[in-house]
Amino acid sequence: MSQRLAVFVSGRGSNLESLLKGLAGHSTGTVVLVVSDRVGAPALDHARSAHIPTATVEADDGTGQLEILAAHAVDWIVLAGYLKRVPKAVVAHYRNRILNIHPALLPRHGGPGMYGLRVHEAVLTAGDTESGASVHLVDEEYDHGPVVAQRRVRVEPEDTPASLARRVLAAEHALLSEVVIAAVEGRLRTEDDRAWIEGANCLSAE
Ligand code: GRF
Repeated sequence: MSQRLAVFVSGRGSNLESLLKGLAGHSTGTVVLVVSDRVGAPALDHARSAHIPTATVEADDGTGQLEILAAHAVDWIVLAGYLKRVPKAVVAHYRNRILNIHPALLPRHGGPGMYGLRVHEAVLTAGDTESGASVHLVDEEYDHGPVVAQRRVRVEPEDTPASLARRVLAAEHALLSEVVIAAVEGRLRTEDDRAWIEGANCLSAE
């Protein structure tokens, strides 16, 4: 039976757009709702173009989010460029069924305020020779739940935060679809504080 996905967005929605393309033709997972904390988020236009219901909900105590998620019988939540902390009540209800894409190799360069170009600035400042994308299960803290899979990219000597962001974003797009498809197909495994995709090389190289 097809798994029903809600995608949470805050910004331009390139990860949402990429995920919709990645899921096309996969009957096991369907995006049934797109939620944003921002009325004007451009990502909501992607949802409307794809005739997917949208909702703008405050990230408060989670009551509003849980109501709209239940109304659409959502099985999984995917955070795709979503910048707010997920309320504890939502994390508790969807334990191990909320995935987030982060533009760095967690646990490095994650946590409160670490989003957008700031992440890539931190990677360059740290002198890291590689970066990449991480998909992790969401818990009560920012970028803190168990990492499910990562995709690594090189950091080039001439990189700027913007050039590195572009390279990492391409890795994010590929990784997010790969992990979400595995999750809706029942291949995401968790044990204690670990999570992985059964049968996958979790550090798929760029
Ligand atoms: C991406 O790097 C994502 O990882 C981060 O926000 C950036 C923009 O995402 N959270 P999108 O284009 O809105 O999907």
